[in-house]
Amino acid sequence: FFPVAVAFCAVLFSCDEGNEQETESEVSRAAFLPVDSTYANPYRPQFHFSPRSQWMNDPNGMVYFQGEYHLFYQYYPDSTVWGPMHWGHAVSRDLVHWEHLPIALNPDSLGYIFSGSAVVDWKNTTGFGSVNEPPLIAIYTYHHPETTLQTQAIAYSTDRGRNWTKYDHNPVLPNSGIKDFRDPKVFWHEPSSQWIMILAEASQVGLYGSLDLKSWEPLSKFGQYDGNHGGVWECPDLFQLSDAGVNSRWVMIVSIGSGGPAGGSASQYFIGDFDGKEFRNDYGADQEMWLDYGKDNYAGVTWSDVDPNDGRRIFLGWMSNWQYATKVPTESWRSAMTLPREMVLYQTREGYRVASRPVQEVYQLRIDTTVVNSKLLSGSADWSEVYPSDSTLLNFELTLSDVSNTGFGWELLFENELEEYISLGFDQESNQFFIDRTESGDHSFSEDFSGIQYAKRISGQSQMSLSIWIDRSSIEVFADNGTVVMTDLFFPTLPFDRWTLESGDQSLAVEGRIHQLSSIW
Ligand code: FRU
Repeated sequence: FFPVAVAFCAVLFSCDEGNEQETESEVSRAAFLPVDSTYANPYRPQFHFSPRSQWMNDPNGMVYFQGEYHLFYQYYPDSTVWGPMHWGHAVSRDLVHWEHLPIALNPDSLGYIFSGSAVVDWKNTTGFGSVNEPPLIAIYTYHHPETTLQTQAIAYSTDRGRNWTKYDHNPVLPNSGIKDFRDPKVFWHEPSSQWIMILAEASQVGLYGSLDLKSWEPLSKFGQYDGNHGGVWECPDLFQLSDAGVNSRWVMIVSIGSGGPAGGSASQYFIGDFDGKEFRNDYGADQEMWLDYGKDNYAGVTWSDVDPNDGRRIFLGWMSNWQYATKVPTESWRSAMTLPREMVLYQTREGYRVASRPVQEVYQLRIDTTVVNSKLLSGSADWSEVYPSDSTLLNFELTLSDVSNTGFGWELLFENELEEYISLGFDQESNQFFIDRTESGDHSFSEDFSGIQYAKRISGQSQMSLSIWIDRSSIEVFADNGTVVMTDLFFPTLPFDRWTLESGDQSLAVEGRIHQLSSIW
C-alpha cells in the first residue's frame, strides 16, 4: 500500500495553503522517505512504535476518532538528528499495530511545527466541519527558526486525519515575548463549556480558555514555585482521573528537559483540582512526583477523545532522554515510543498517586507462555536453562513473596555471552528498585548513558508484583501494579538471551509467567 499512499499524499500536500515556503522538491523529499521496511536492525524495537526512518521525538496530537488511535510525532524527515520539525503520523486500531501515514504537517513561513495536541471538535465550534461530520483539530506550536519566537496555531482535517489544512489566520495565540512558550494540550471542559489549553511557559504553565479554538483568553498560571524546576517546563497535560470509588482528581503532567530524578529529561505530575479557571495543587509545593524513574520516558501525554464507554486515560511517552537522544547508536532511525500505558489514580497513606500499566491490548503479543510454578530460590538461578525461550522479546509477570525477609533483595539479570547485561533489582535495605545498565553494551556515545537508576518502593506489602517488558533495546518495568515504573534503553553487542535471578542467601518465593512476544512489524 505504501508507495501508492505516499505518492497520493505528495500531490495533496502541494494544495496545503499554509505551506507557503514549501517547494515541490521539498514536498517529494519529505514524502518519499528512505524505508527500513524490515525493521530488522538489531536495535530496532519490535513491539514499540518507531518511525520507518529518520529522527523522531515527542508524541503529538494523540486523538481517538472513528476507531483509530492517531499518533503524530515530532519528526525530521531529512536526518537522524533533530532538525526543522514536522508532524509525522501513524494510526492504529488497537494501540499495538501501527500503519505509517504520510507527514501531516510541514514547516512553513511561520516556523517549525513543534509539539501539540489534537481534539475532535464534536460541536463544530470552529466551523471547519459540521456536527454530523466533526473536524479533527490539531493545536501546535510554531517555532520561528530566526526569531526563536513560539506561537500557537491550529490546523484541521475533515477526512479522518488524512489531510490537514492550516488555519489562514494563524497564530491563534501570539506570544508577547516569553522565550519558551509551547506544547499546547487542549481539551473540552464541559462544566465551563469551553476549550481549555494548557501551555508550557518557561518555568510554569499557562491556562487559556476558548469557545472556538481560534481566540484564546488567559485564565491563570500554575507552578512557578511548585514541583521540580531542574529544567525548562515542557509538554504539559491536564485531565481528570477517578479512583476505584467515586472520587476523582485532576492530574497535571509536566515534563522537564533536564534535572530529572535519574538525570536529564523526566516527567513529573501534580494532583489537584481544576475549576475551569485555576488548578490547585492538593499537596505542598515541594512535593515531587514522577511518572517514571528510568531515564527514558519523556514528553509523554495522553490520548484525547477515547471512547467514553472505554473511559481509559492512555499515555504514551518518547522513549529517550535529551542527554543522549541524538547520539544513540541506531542507524537509519532514532527513537521509539514507550508502550501505551493506562493511567490509574490510587490512594496511598500520603494521598493520591498515579500508577501506570501497559494497556491490555499489548497482551495479544504473547505467543508462547511458560508457567513458573511457585519456587523457593536462593543464591543464583539460571532461569534461561529452566525456562528456555526462542525469543528475546519477553514479558515476565512475576510475583515475589516475603520480599522483606530476604535480607538482600533480588536482582534479575538479562545477559549475553559477552557478559553484557541489564539488570533489574530491589535492594531491601534502602527499599529501592533499581535498573543497572552500566554493563549493558555500547555506552560510548554519551557519558550520561551508563549508570544505575533507583526508585523508592511505594507499596508496603510483603508480596511484590513485577511486569517486565523487554524489547531489542529497551526495558520497561511496572512494579507493584504500576505504582513504580522504570523505562530504560540499552544497546548490547549481542541480544540478551539468558536470564538469571539472584536472591542472596535467603530464599525467595517466586511464581508467575514468562511470555515470548511477537513483533508488530
Ligand atoms: C520536548 C520538546 C518540546 C518541543 C519539541 C521540539 O522534547 O523540546 O518542548 O515542542 O520537543 O521538537
